[in-house]
Amino acid sequence: MQLYARDVGQGTPLVLLHAFPLSSSMWLPQREALAGRFRIITPDLRGFGGSVLGAEEPSVETMADDVAALLKSKNIPRAVIGGLSMGGYVAMALCRRHPDRVRGLVLADTKATADADAARENRLRTADRIIAENSVAVLTEELLPKLIGPTTMRQRALVYGRIRGLVQSTPPKAAAWAQRAMAARPDSTETLRAVRAPALVIVGAEDGITTEADARHMADALPNGELHVIPRSGHLTSIEQPDLFNQSVADFVSAVAKSTA
Ligand code: MLT
Repeated sequence: MQLYARDVGQGTPLVLLHAFPLSSSMWLPQREALAGRFRIITPDLRGFGGSVLGAEEPSVETMADDVAALLKSKNIPRAVIGGLSMGGYVAMALCRRHPDRVRGLVLADTKATADADAARENRLRTADRIIAENSVAVLTEELLPKLIGPTTMRQRALVYGRIRGLVQSTPPKAAAWAQRAMAARPDSTETLRAVRAPALVIVGAEDGITTEADARHMADALPNGELHVIPRSGHLTSIEQPDLFNQSVADFVSAVAKSTA
């Protein structure tokens, strides 16, 4: 199983793992702004975008193995690994299973804790409904309105339309599989305590899915972690405030490249 990945630019490799239920398309503002300075690799996680789903059981560890295999196939021993929300869960699983591949870590709008029971049951119910209806309508009804913060909703309605398009084009089987994978994910706090690489934690000040407290918990667990709160942004910081997000990530990757050259 080989993930489809967009791979642009040259220099320190930066892998960006997308949120649920989106695809590597969400990283367009990062490919445009950062490929002049770094090598930006944005895979579609299995089942999403151009990547096939495969037959494995749902698990974020499997998704992390896919990313490690992608790096191997590109002969990239180590990269800065970034993930937003679900992508962050995969990045943390990668730290657990393939720590030697992680030269730096960016965790955006994500959390180290596992789901509480109610959230897990809700995910499994959602997955069942997606399969029963063969449609991701439940996600456009229930999840989409929470992805974008109030400032973006008020000031940049076009962004909302673009995200809705990405959500609607998610294959139902991939959405159900990923929901089950996220429901099964373990707590990653101890994983973060063991990360030796430098880390950057980002959260939108208006994020209603993963909170500033979740971000602080990760930054505190990381031996070498810093926290950056992005104002006027909800859950999708990289899309809602791309300039602030890109500046923060670019400064971090440059520092990592210098310190781990
Ligand atoms: C995401 O943005 O990737 C999802 O909302 C994450 C989640 O459902 O926990």
